[in-house]
Amino acid sequence: NWTMDDFIDMKIDEIRKEVGDKKVILGLSGGVDSSVTATLLHKAIGNQLTAIFVDHGMLRKDEGDQVMKALNKDLGVNIIRVNAQKRFLDKLKGVTDPEKKRKIIGKEFIEVFNEEAKKIKDVDFLAQGTLYTDVIESGTNTAQTIKSHHNVGGLPKDMHFKLIEPLRKLFKDEVRELGEKLGIPHDLVWRQPFPGPGLGIRVLGEVTEDKLKIVRESDAILRDEIKRAGLQEKIWQYFTVLPGIRSVGVMGDGRTYDYTIGIRAVTSIDGMTADFAKIPWDVLGHISDRIVNEVDNVNRVVYDVTSKPPSTIEWE
Ligand code: XMP
Repeated sequence: NWTMDDFIDMKIDEIRKEVGDKKVILGLSGGVDSSVTATLLHKAIGNQLTAIFVDHGMLRKDEGDQVMKALNKDLGVNIIRVNAQKRFLDKLKGVTDPEKKRKIIGKEFIEVFNEEAKKIKDVDFLAQGTLYTDVIESGTNTAQTIKSHHNVGGLPKDMHFKLIEPLRKLFKDEVRELGEKLGIPHDLVWRQPFPGPGLGIRVLGEVTEDKLKIVRESDAILRDEIKRAGLQEKIWQYFTVLPGIRSVGVMGDGRTYDYTIGIRAVTSIDGMTADFAKIPWDVLGHISDRIVNEVDNVNRVVYDVTSKPPSTIEWE
């Protein structure tokens, strides 16, 4: 029966003993698990850790900057940020199939990471934010694959690192508690789940910079209003999607022919099943007004009222 403070002291001790004066690298995705792992390692070994933050350009609005501010600027974690949006978009050009998009994004992520990792000399260890649930899930293989989930990982074949996985015995809630204890801001640590391929699977079909912008801006408005309505911690996941269809609208005296934004918001325990969230109409109406007024090329907003199953949470 340990407390989180005991856990931190114990892990720091363990990490120091194991690493000695050697170097460690870590792939930072911007998500909770890798952020907490990076912060814990930084506390234990300081600048012997280099975190490589691959920004694939499909993160939410301001997310990359927020991660840099919280972890690098405020907590001092040594981070190399790689702005790789163009590389990812080039690889995704003309690709419309969701699973192909996932594979391309996952593969490119590892490639960018490896290129950066090779620039750092004499690294002995690779740290990963593997959780207890990841350990269990990779051990069983009964479920049919509906969607392949690519998270940070995948060891470079020509590099031989020893693995450090300090969160291996923890559940998600414990990781969040640990993150707060380590000084990561509450909002960052308690964020809703966000898929590795990011907004890339919320622009349905081919991903372009223009379409990413529409999803990013509409998503920021949605999050802002959900927070303002105090619903942030009552809804498991909430985001916007761009189906890519256009429809007719009217603005002033003129006809418009623009995109539709879909709002997806669900309640769930673990993401395996989900129900659409019963957001009050007036909140939805206000969100819709703001999206249509503030986001260019959008003239219609629809609300997704399907549960999982038969739908999935993400549209791709
Ligand atoms: P679905 O859409 O399968 O989503 O009902 C269930 C949960 O998984 C997340 N998700 C992903 N996470 N990479 C990830 O890391 C992925 O490719 C991916 N696809 C879906 C989704 O956001 C939800 O929380």
